[in-house]
Amino acid sequence: MANHESVQIAPAEGKLGVLTPGMGAVTTTFIAGLEAMKRGLGKPIGSLSQLGTIRLGKRTEGRSPAIKDFVPLAGAEDLVVGGWDIFEDNAYEAAVKAGVLETALLDQLKAPLSAIRPMKAVFDQSFVTRLHGPNVKNAKSKMESAEMVMDDIRQFKEKNGVSRMVMIWCGSTEVFHQASAVHQTLKDFECGLQKNDPEISPSQIYAYAALKMGIPHANGAPHMTTDMPALLELARQMNVPVSGKDYKSGQTFMKTLVAPGLKSRMLGLRGWFSTNILGNRDGEVLDDPGSFRSKEVTKSSSLEYILQKNLYPDLYSAYYHKVRIEYYPPRGDAKEGWDNIDIFGWLGYPMQIKINFLCRDSILAAPLVLDLVLFMDLAQRAGMRGVQEWLSFYFKGPMHAPEVYPEHDIFIQLMKLKNTLRWMRGEDLITHLGLEYYD
Ligand SMILES: NC(=O)c1ccc[n+]([C@@H]2O[C@H](COP(=O)([O-])OP(=O)(O)OC[C@H]3O[C@@H](n4cnc5c(N)ncnc54)[C@H](O)[C@@H]3O)[C@@H](O)[C@H]2O)c1
Repeated sequence: MANHESVQIAPAEGKLGVLTPGMGAVTTTFIAGLEAMKRGLGKPIGSLSQLGTIRLGKRTEGRSPAIKDFVPLAGAEDLVVGGWDIFEDNAYEAAVKAGVLETALLDQLKAPLSAIRPMKAVFDQSFVTRLHGPNVKNAKSKMESAEMVMDDIRQFKEKNGVSRMVMIWCGSTEVFHQASAVHQTLKDFECGLQKNDPEISPSQIYAYAALKMGIPHANGAPHMTTDMPALLELARQMNVPVSGKDYKSGQTFMKTLVAPGLKSRMLGLRGWFSTNILGNRDGEVLDDPGSFRSKEVTKSSSLEYILQKNLYPDLYSAYYHKVRIEYYPPRGDAKEGWDNIDIFGWLGYPMQIKINFLCRDSILAAPLVLDLVLFMDLAQRAGMRGVQEWLSFYFKGPMHAPEVYPEHDIFIQLMKLKNTLRWMRGEDLITHLGLEYYD
């Protein structure tokens, strides 16, 4: 039964363009997955939008449709991907170099993957110090770079006949910067683009171009892109949704599963040491202290917000949290994350938990890209603009309104996401109260 009017959502007609600055491991694993699905060569494991269901009404009603049947999402087969990279490799060559998927699978997808060639990138060495590539735009100003990106987008749209687009940053992690004077208002930012302000990063130039064209933007990396006043102003002005940042795929995913559980049982924390070995290009970029700093910030913030030491000083006021990433080439994309967690229980007695996650970075990230693209497009069609907090589920450092703290607990994030979908369709929100079954 509907509790309010459902939200007006424009239909998902036509093709949906996916614009990816960065065509490395994550992007090519995502594209190969789409092509594999079309051919029945693989399933979208890890994708909530494709495999998830949503309970509606009371448990006695037995209504649990698939999410993709409940809200009008674009079909995965309607996606057309186009991207930019500083390297000239097409998506097939880049996927082979990334070494995530087996060549036997990639060879079956060679034709569609080879057809996707990267557009020339907006690049600035001072933001990604470890990479050097030839496929870069030559512009006199940052504003001219933004205009060139807009031209690329227009041409992509025309060539592929897409009716809508979403931009999702899958490029390298940029060096840590905080919002400066140029990021305060849209006017300051546009003036900074004209004047080549050194504080404006390439990721912000792509985002500016997207928002200016009314295209939703999601940020899969940890650096600051739209999470500053100037681009949020532009998003509101253009009525476009934005979300970020940093895909919550491996170690932080584990952390935000375990920490709410410890807190739920009022178990204390003395220390949490997290380290990773990673040998892909992302690991190489993160070997630079400036890029690592961006990652360290998003990877570190989740515990603080989940554990709420101000509410539970006996349990969480004095824990030591350390996060490391070590570049170790032999491991490639098959990252290994270790967590040593020192906890304490009744009367302060110590205990330990060890987690050793032998994961695959891009295998975990690709379904998040798919979900974000589909949900950002849905948000746009539902007239939702600005920060999409309901998509916090996908991010290590979720964007949020200034007056509230970010929600990191993955179970609350999932409830927030599903309740937002129920709200969109005018269904009762699920409170899990359940008293009505026992009256
Ligand atoms: N599980 C995961 O894989 C995961 C999780 C969270 C976040 N991320 C982030 O997602 C991003 C992509 O990860 P990846 O493993 O695919 O990395 P990758 O190094 O394989 O790919 C990134 C690509 O971006 C390109 N690039 C860099 N600057 C660019 C620019 N200005 N314009 C266009 N292209 C540019 C690089 O040349 C590279 O090919 C990284 O920032 C990473 O930190 C990944």
